[in-house]
Amino acid sequence: MNIALKTHQNSPENTVTRALEDQCDEVHEFSKDVLTGLSAPQKTLPCKYLYDETGSKIFEQICELDDYYLTRTEADIFATNLPDIAKTLGANVTLVEPGAGNCEKAQPLLCAMTSPAAYFPIDISPEILLAAQIRLQASLPELPVHSIVGDFTDPTSWDGSAVDGRQVVFFPGSTVGNFTEKDAERLLKGFASWLKPGDGLLLGADLVKDSVVLERAYHDNEHVTEAFNKNLLQRINRELNGNFELESFAHRAFYHPLRQRVEMHLVSLKAQQVRVAGIEFQFAEGETIHTENSHKYTDESLTALLNRAGFVSCRHWTDNNNHFAIYYAEIS
Ligand code: AVJ
Repeated sequence: MNIALKTHQNSPENTVTRALEDQCDEVHEFSKDVLTGLSAPQKTLPCKYLYDETGSKIFEQICELDDYYLTRTEADIFATNLPDIAKTLGANVTLVEPGAGNCEKAQPLLCAMTSPAAYFPIDISPEILLAAQIRLQASLPELPVHSIVGDFTDPTSWDGSAVDGRQVVFFPGSTVGNFTEKDAERLLKGFASWLKPGDGLLLGADLVKDSVVLERAYHDNEHVTEAFNKNLLQRINRELNGNFELESFAHRAFYHPLRQRVEMHLVSLKAQQVRVAGIEFQFAEGETIHTENSHKYTDESLTALLNRAGFVSCRHWTDNNNHFAIYYAEIS
């Protein structure tokens, strides 16, 4: 079995120095993004920072909530249609998964596919990838699995031209929902740049629906999403020497019908001043920090997005309530 982790950047010989440099770069990028975001007229923080170790654990709890129908519904669609989906993907396919994490969703799919050629999970966390790869190899010992450490929003994180035969990019979980229209187009164009005509994209997307159902999913009764949102303030306090008072901010999530997205915010409950990395920020009472977008799609808006990125939609599968959909599209 092959458990080598690859990056496409050339690693210098001294990997310890490299690791420290990477860590410094990460802290630097985080502080730059936070200070920039808090200086904007509409304060905002990039949602990728919600997913530190604690945030990722809280997100796993969100996925188990009754109110959070997304994960469960997507899993049901896969379970019901697995043979059909596998057949649609075809035989001898190389599966590439940007943001694979623990590779939990790929495993049943790979098992159902006809002699998959190889699996390339891409993720920024080498630890999670390594653990996933070992688990995966245990159930699919014949399958070549090559983990790629990298940021999948960077098209150079993967070089698809090296692959013989057909490739399918697997992007489940409504992760595409975190991207604005423009960024989603850029992201999917990046995926398309890895592919040849006839290669595919298997994409999971959350659908436009009743706003009560949507808002409950992001404002659950058990307050897990609130903890997920506020963890970002805790992270800033810890890593950037911040002094956010968690009890002086409230979690807010609402559906914006024109933008077709759920927005997550943190609302300042009073006029206050917060210090981050030595810099003071003023908050008026009721002022918010915008922390996440979760875009919802219709068949029209998703098909149009796929088309703009160079794909044609071939098939899709949905649940009985039409809450979530899995799309298969190909490069034209
Ligand atoms: C991981 C982006 C799919 O938008 O539904 C869940 C993140 N945020 N609850 C989503 C999330 C708050 C989630 N995605």
